[in-house]
Amino acid sequence: MNEILINKTIEKAQKIFENEFSGHDFWHTLRVYNTAKTIAKKEKCDMEIVCLAALLHDFDDVKITNSTTELENATKWLNENNYAPERINWIKEIINTISFKGIDTKVPKTIEGKIVQDADRLDAIGAIGIARTFAYGGSKGRELWNPNKHYIDGMNEEEYRKNNGNTINHFYEKLLKLKDMMNTNTAKEIAEHRHHYMEMFLEEFYEEWNGKK
Ligand code: NI
Repeated sequence: MNEILINKTIEKAQKIFENEFSGHDFWHTLRVYNTAKTIAKKEKCDMEIVCLAALLHDFDDVKITNSTTELENATKWLNENNYAPERINWIKEIINTISFKGIDTKVPKTIEGKIVQDADRLDAIGAIGIARTFAYGGSKGRELWNPNKHYIDGMNEEEYRKNNGNTINHFYEKLLKLKDMMNTNTAKEIAEHRHHYMEMFLEEFYEEWNGKK
């Protein structure tokens, strides 16, 4: 495993996400990387691909750059470091399939892709998921909740991106669905715990909203 390249990529990520405060930041990338490694240790897989795909998965996120499926930033970085072309393609294929796109979401073909997708999804739920969701909603000027606006089920990619709901609705539109979308058994176990924590949070939130003690 190319530890030097991995460490350099961690440093590069720090620079790429320098001015990003919406919850899609360097720390998100680092958590996905660490969680992906935890899952990968239990699976027969190419650890180096898992690590690099995890570190690079948001280098070209629409919230960060304008480059989309071409994955300019990630590709440029791997090329600059003389990474093997067929392995660059493998990583690009993973990054292009893992993101959440409402009902258009895909399952990655390789175990390495499944692991990174699980790690990215795990970071969207639990205590960190709650914190990130409110941070992101705040950055978009969204209400915490609006009891008069019901959430929308079964959105496609475009509807999902354009949707400008409130943050509590986002739990029902995305976060509470993620538990059943995990690929690996390790991620399923972790997700179970984090899902339960979010349910408790919502219960408490509504009680406080309605003025109960
Ligand atoms: Ni991500």
